[in-house]
Amino acid sequence: MISPFSGILDIQTSMNSNLATDASDRHLLGLKALQTDQLHVLLRRAQAFAAGATSPAALAGVAVCTLFFEPSTRTRLSFQLAAQRLGAHILNFDASTSSATKGETDLDTFRTIQAMGVRGFVVRHKVDGAVAALTAAAQPGVAVVNAGDGRSEHPTQGLLDMLTLRQAKGEDFSTLRVVIVGDVKHSRVARSDLHALRALGCGEIRVCGPASLLPDDGTLAGCTVTDDFDAALEGVDAAMMLRLQRERMVEGLVESLDDYHRDYGLTAERLRRAAPEAIVMHPGPMNRGVEITDEVADGPQSRILQQVSNGVAVRMAVLEAVLGAS
Ligand code: CP
Repeated sequence: MISPFSGILDIQTSMNSNLATDASDRHLLGLKALQTDQLHVLLRRAQAFAAGATSPAALAGVAVCTLFFEPSTRTRLSFQLAAQRLGAHILNFDASTSSATKGETDLDTFRTIQAMGVRGFVVRHKVDGAVAALTAAAQPGVAVVNAGDGRSEHPTQGLLDMLTLRQAKGEDFSTLRVVIVGDVKHSRVARSDLHALRALGCGEIRVCGPASLLPDDGTLAGCTVTDDFDAALEGVDAAMMLRLQRERMVEGLVESLDDYHRDYGLTAERLRRAAPEAIVMHPGPMNRGVEITDEVADGPQSRILQQVSNGVAVRMAVLEAVLGAS
């Protein structure tokens, strides 16, 4: 069996060449570092968990901390549930009620919790690369999972999105046409999805949004890029809608929410341009009435709550891979 975690080390080891590179150091910082077969191993294990497989003692005696410096509902809670289902002890760090409010640095916070014997860290941070920087301070045997850093990556969201696509369309992505829509520039979800879709051989990746919300840094290499949403939807098998990330935006990138909805909001009428069995995805939280209407979000083609359910299964597979015995 191919290990799902060998090769996950590259970001961490490149951060600090003095760091121990013992095989017990396993981190998941992004999907860019993963090979296709590693993605398949993780997705198959996640599918087994989604179908009811259990492993209640996999992390018995292991303490896992959700270390979130940014708000979260589904990522934090589903990691906690995943860790519980694997038999781990869970600690929840809340920056707003912690000694971070007294000026303790993020690195001192990480080291302090690590000194308590915590072996697993699930970390979210608003700064690109901050999770990798903390990982450089991880001791041998301690595992770090990126729960979203800045605009960079959100690897477990990317994995749960791929699991949702596989469940709807099968393992072979070679004939799939997928469109990613909206605020790609500020989206770590889009970056992880793009890495995974490429690695899994997606037939056609379209990216659609206003030019002001599309990155021009090579992120979209190989994608069909357009600002015409109606054209981008023609015949697609999946529409992956993105949240308009107002908290990461500088002013003026969109004229108004009404204009954005008119041009890039997914309505039931627009969705008819997609393939008849097309699915609709959104990582959440949604701006209802902006990037997606209630009718679509709650309609028969929506897989948004299935994505949430799959989040628990994917996070079980990831925690087992980075913290489990074998
Ligand atoms: N999709 C996602 O990361 O949601 P949360 O911010 O609620 O964790």
